[in-house]
Amino acid sequence: MRADHRAIEEHLDRLLAALLDLRPERISEIQASVAKIQALAKLHFRKEEEIFYPTVRPLDPDLLHPMGEQHEDVRKAERHLAEILAYRHASDTRWMNNLRSFGIAFHDRIQHHIVDEEDQLFRVAGERLTIEDQESLAIAMAGIEKQS
Ligand SMILES: [Fe+2]
Ligand SMILES: [Fe+2]
Repeated sequence: MRADHRAIEEHLDRLLAALLDLRPERISEIQASVAKIQALAKLHFRKEEEIFYPTVRPLDPDLLHPMGEQHEDVRKAERHLAEILAYRHASDTRWMNNLRSFGIAFHDRIQHHIVDEEDQLFRVAGERLTIEDQESLAIAMAGIEKQS
């Protein structure tokens, strides 16, 4: 799971760098980063929502609730950004400003969620799941990867 996070972050870093130096010629790079993040996050969220979260939820239901909400927030930000990118007006300053601010919001939500998961969720799972449970989780999540 940490390896998934590192892969997503690699593209988040690229996205942020392009957004902070936003010029019309960087838009295709932004589109490519967003598409890559969407694909990685979609698969990663499935692993979490179908396998990881249901296993950890009984250990700490209060912790799992905000994690699920953060996934919804990320999806909302992603839809919003995709809408902006679908109506491209590279010459329009207002459009460029929207792209910058919603792109940064999208970046921040995912980054914040990754940090929360690693600080809180992964810690609880590491402390409270047996090694056997952790191994069977890893196998089940790898199964989702193969299906996709
Ligand atoms: Fe997550
Ligand atoms: Fe995650």
